[in-house]
Amino acid sequence: MSRKYRWGILGPGRIAHQFAADLQLLPEAELVAVGSRSRENAEAFGAQYHIPRRHASYEALAADPEVEIIYVATPHIFHYRDSLLCLQHGKAVLCEKAFTINAREAEQLIAFARREKLFLMEAMWTRFQPALIKLRELLAAGTIGEQRMLRGELAFRAPFDPSGRLFDPALGGGALLDLGIYPLALAAMIFGAAPADIRGVAHIGATGVDEQCAFMLQYPEGQLASLFAAVRTAAPGGAVLLGSEGRIEIHGPLYRPESLTVIPEGREPQIFPTPYRGHGYLYEAREVMHCLAAGKTESETMPLDESLALMRIMDTLRRQWNLRYPTE
Ligand SMILES: NC(=O)c1ccc[n+]([C@@H]2O[C@H](COP(=O)([O-])OP(=O)(O)OC[C@H]3O[C@@H](n4cnc5c(N)ncnc54)[C@H](OP(=O)(O)O)[C@@H]3O)[C@@H](O)[C@H]2O)c1
Repeated sequence: MSRKYRWGILGPGRIAHQFAADLQLLPEAELVAVGSRSRENAEAFGAQYHIPRRHASYEALAADPEVEIIYVATPHIFHYRDSLLCLQHGKAVLCEKAFTINAREAEQLIAFARREKLFLMEAMWTRFQPALIKLRELLAAGTIGEQRMLRGELAFRAPFDPSGRLFDPALGGGALLDLGIYPLALAAMIFGAAPADIRGVAHIGATGVDEQCAFMLQYPEGQLASLFAAVRTAAPGGAVLLGSEGRIEIHGPLYRPESLTVIPEGREPQIFPTPYRGHGYLYEAREVMHCLAAGKTESETMPLDESLALMRIMDTLRRQWNLRYPTE
């Protein structure tokens, strides 16, 4: 890439640390600004990553003329508000998953970005990592024949904290939006994002969010995905894709798989290690810069129509569970 892109980070929390560290591995990226609700956080984060411009409000970051791309890393419930703020100031936006809390917000955000011809992408980082690039190659080569069924999970046991991001409905808590999105996005990458039938069950915990959920999707040609997610119960993670001529096992947590095993019918299994650089976030950041360099306002690998379709599926599931967020 012939020039450097100037990044800002909005919401310097847990995940923003990992993203900031990964940006520093990319010679084409320069982390020039951070915006926090508090001066103290902005200063501390800025000092840790040698970020020169430290803003004590999200508005000031969005308005900073030195910043071209903003990574939005606030809790789900604020993604719409914070991404819109950045777009309104003409910035390119990479917004953490889940993209928004519902399809209505996603539609409005996408419409604004498209109208203003600004770049916008959901930070579905896994899709750009070596493991999923390899998986797409294997599928394109017909390695396991026709893809028929997917089983996938992402679940861990977080300490119960009613006011924490994972449990507080006011922050968009729950397993589906936080973790279920990963197996769901994987299913969409394999089978498409328009299932013909969607059915889910969930256990709603004391704070009113889904602490564990399981859901099945059926696609127009009969393919099935059986997926689950949980924030109070740990699972090994991973997925198995079953085809007409074998299967592919995806190992490691579904947000950042570590290897794939291809087991063709009647032949020896083949293991493909898929190591990643840094924490695995640099690939999505690189995608944003590649798109901008090519004059694109959307990624073809993680398109906005797909982010919207994923939000619609999650809306359908939450309707089945009577789960609404306070802003809905
Ligand atoms: N891609 C991944 O692997 C991955 C992993 C974890 C999380 N995520 C996503 O990243 C986003 C942030 O997750 P996180 O775990 O980093 O969250 P977090 O640490 O709880 O919060 C991130 C930051 O959001 C800001 N914030 C703004 N309003 C807030 C409020 N009312 N309460 C709490 N924080 C508020 C805070 O920054 P200031 O106060 O400094 O402004 C906070 O540090 C979520 O959408 C999550 O799904 C992605």
